[in-house]
Amino acid sequence: MNLSSKIAKVHNFSLKQMGSDTTGHGFDHILRVVNLTKKILKSEPGNPLIAISAAYLHDVADDKLVKDPAAQNVKTIAFLKESDFSDDEIAEILDITKNLSFSKSLGQNPPILSISGKIVQDADRLDAIGAIGTLRAIYYGGKNSQVIYDPTVKPRTSMDKTEYRNLSRETIINHFYEKLLNLKAMMNTNTARKIAAGRQTFMLNFLEEFLGEWNGKL
Ligand code: ADP
Ligand code: NI
Repeated sequence: MNLSSKIAKVHNFSLKQMGSDTTGHGFDHILRVVNLTKKILKSEPGNPLIAISAAYLHDVADDKLVKDPAAQNVKTIAFLKESDFSDDEIAEILDITKNLSFSKSLGQNPPILSISGKIVQDADRLDAIGAIGTLRAIYYGGKNSQVIYDPTVKPRTSMDKTEYRNLSRETIINHFYEKLLNLKAMMNTNTARKIAAGRQTFMLNFLEEFLGEWNGKL
């Protein structure tokens, strides 16, 4: 099976698994991460089959979306085997999808990703910032009944995974200071850093406008 027919199979599998999600991780997010991965691959030395497949599969076993991530991973491995992926390719793809999430980078020893993994991680992080990232944060916050803003709740400066998922101490605006504005400096590749710069400016302008309006100055 050639590269494009393998990728087409992965596309269909991911669509089937992700299709019904409405938490901001829907298939539209997956397609943007795939497209950003392809863009970054033009100037960074990743493995296209590994990186593009991992981009399609990176949220399929997300613990926010599925009850049993381990069972979902078993399903994904079986699918990849059937689709002619080698054991090494399957191992690398699973290593990426299990370790790329922001919450994993909050621990003491953040996982070290392969170059293909670093590219997909950058693509996923780029989709969390800028205009789309801003909307996703608002959408996610609304879905989880977060307040928009509360000046008495200060942004948390250090969080572990449990604290990151503790939404009772979260506001939508604080999410920018706790996570989104930090992502630019966390990009692995120069290509992603350049794309992140414009998206950062958008978010900073948005926050300045928001706070100006909130405080009655604009
Ligand atoms: P990752 O998959 O990188 O670990 P998450 O799954 O935590 O990231 O987040 C997915 C999307 O939901 C991102 O766009 C993120 O900014 C948004 N999001 C996550 N947590 C919050 C939150 N507490 N408030 C608002 N948006 C959030
Ligand atoms: Ni994602």
